[in-house]
Amino acid sequence: MEKKRVFSGIQPSGSLTLGNYIGALSNFVGLQEEYDCLYCIVDLHAITVFQEPKDLRKNTLDVLSLYLAAGLDPEKSTIFIQSHVPQHAELGWCLNTITPLGQLQRMTQFKDKSSKTKEVDAGLLNYPTLMAADILLYQSDFVPVGIDQKQHLELTRDIAQRFNSKYSDTFVVPEIMTPKVGAKIMSLQEPEYKMSKSSDNKDSYILLLDSEDETRKKIKKAVTDSIGVVNYTDDQPGLKNLITIYSSFTGKTPEEIVKDYENIGYGVFKDDLAEIVVEGLRPLRTRFEEIRSDKEYLEKVYKEGAQKASYLGTKTLRKVHKKMGFIAR
Ligand code: TYM
Repeated sequence: MEKKRVFSGIQPSGSLTLGNYIGALSNFVGLQEEYDCLYCIVDLHAITVFQEPKDLRKNTLDVLSLYLAAGLDPEKSTIFIQSHVPQHAELGWCLNTITPLGQLQRMTQFKDKSSKTKEVDAGLLNYPTLMAADILLYQSDFVPVGIDQKQHLELTRDIAQRFNSKYSDTFVVPEIMTPKVGAKIMSLQEPEYKMSKSSDNKDSYILLLDSEDETRKKIKKAVTDSIGVVNYTDDQPGLKNLITIYSSFTGKTPEEIVKDYENIGYGVFKDDLAEIVVEGLRPLRTRFEEIRSDKEYLEKVYKEGAQKASYLGTKTLRKVHKKMGFIAR
């Protein structure tokens, strides 16, 4: 029986956070045996917000190295850079022609990001159709992402269904796959918001490439409350988030963690959490240093990945072109 297909991507728009790791990257690794996985570094998406070219180059190879350091294996999965496979942009264009403008304007991410800039570029609006193209190009069955991507996944499903009914069955309609714990890691300083690298406050996020000391400090500075009892409730959002992080690193349930820290103060809990996170990330951070300096290896991985992805992508794109009435090349 053929394996089901998994596709996911991360933007190289800065360094990855603990949220990216818990919500997405750490889950990619375990899917490699059971599924046929494609993992992409979505540089075409990153440029919907201006990227300094030299930073984009660096960040793209950083993300690739983090993929590999986390345990993605190029022998098992197809690992590649989005702009190396032009079929993504080509399919994205076709999908734009069957996507209502209103639906794009209603996307939460578009509303958020466009409210922060004076002049809104078309790329930001069309971001979700390119994301749909990423997923549909490979006939993906499952998409492992954090919960913030749910709306994009729903749009992707709509687009697939719309195309299938307009031009006959072509695309697999994909399903979202979110982790049970940690689908939305919150800011360490303002726990009502998602942890995000675009925040101005560096203490609000942990970067995978922060030092161990920085990691410890940020956890110890994390906002909690004055209740003083370790509990997992919406009334204590800061603490709830820390327990979620604890849970995703140890595999313990939030209930078990609450029980372990009964009658113990926040200080001890935070100290323990800091060590758990530092130790949990240590292998990744060590491997990152080794891999990142091996330019030849990185080049081999992304070139072979692009070749494999392009082969698969061409098959779908040919079908799409034929169904839409294009003359075969
Ligand atoms: P990006 O680069 O913003 O985030 C990458 C992944 O990390 C998850 N994530 C989080 N999970 C939990 N808590 C958080 N605080 C947190 N912050 C980020 C995101 O849900 C995501 O899974 N649109 C995508 C990139 C993309 C993509 C795709 C994903 C482009 N094409 C195709 C899947 C399939 C994005 O913005 O990711």
